[in-house]
Amino acid sequence: MASGSLRRHGRQTVLGWITSRFPTTPWADLTRKAIETDQRQMPRSHAEKYELKTIWYWYPLYCLGGISFVAFILLTITGIILGFFYIPDGRYQFTAEGGLTNRAWESMLYIMNDVPFGFIVRGMHHWGAHIMIAAVFLHMCRVYFTGAYKKPRELNWLLGVVLLLLTILFGYSGYLMPGNNLSEGAANIGIEMTRASPIIGDAMATLLWGDISTLSGIYILRMYWLHVFILPFVMVGLMILHMALVWIQGVAEPH
Ligand code: HEM
Repeated sequence: MASGSLRRHGRQTVLGWITSRFPTTPWADLTRKAIETDQRQMPRSHAEKYELKTIWYWYPLYCLGGISFVAFILLTITGIILGFFYIPDGRYQFTAEGGLTNRAWESMLYIMNDVPFGFIVRGMHHWGAHIMIAAVFLHMCRVYFTGAYKKPRELNWLLGVVLLLLTILFGYSGYLMPGNNLSEGAANIGIEMTRASPIIGDAMATLLWGDISTLSGIYILRMYWLHVFILPFVMVGLMILHMALVWIQGVAEPH
């Protein structure tokens, strides 16, 4: 019997010799089944369900939510590094030449010119913010045009609207923090918009901005606290909820 078995193996290939001792096929089948039945149905199950011959060319747009999340992680890491050097003090000071400056802007100059890789870290934070805002907006467009906001995902859409507003608020508050002319211009617009409310305008501006003009420079401390403490915690909580819902409900199939 033993010699018969040896003769049979003698006719088999090397791969056959190996798989008869270490059978890999059941494991490959199990892995394939696990992938097909996983919560994340895209793109495999959709292509199979509708027996598509080609990969549907809108699939890459299903990455936009993930890209928003990756951009957020990048912003968190680079933001933590910048936080070691940034000074949230917008009060005006005279320079030796008689011009005006403030410590927030001076700390930006320090980051850009003296901190090793500071220029690159600030650049990554700056462009990461642009990418995140674009990705979140395009993600919303993808969800809208594939009809993924419909039942049972209405609540996740509303959660997404709040996430979009928070992302814009993140970008705006960050734009004000360098304390340069652009920041001051943008802060002026925000303060004047707040003041434009009838009767309570000035009180609201004082509450939100610390002052009814940019002259005291207090607005930078307000925006800093929003940007590095309040917004991140609210945002992380809502993002976890948003993605947990996607995990529970699965990604909607395009129609
Ligand atoms: C910080 C911002 C956001 C993050 C990190 C995020 C993340 C994600 C991720 C990873 C998914 C899985 C599918 C995919 O990537 O396309 C998803 C799905 C979804 N998102 Fe967002 N999202 C954000 C903002 C928004 C906004 C602004 C909206 C709409 C107003 C929205 C509505 C939805 C809906 C309805 C789904 C389910 C889509 C489906 O089942 O096909 N999200 N989100």
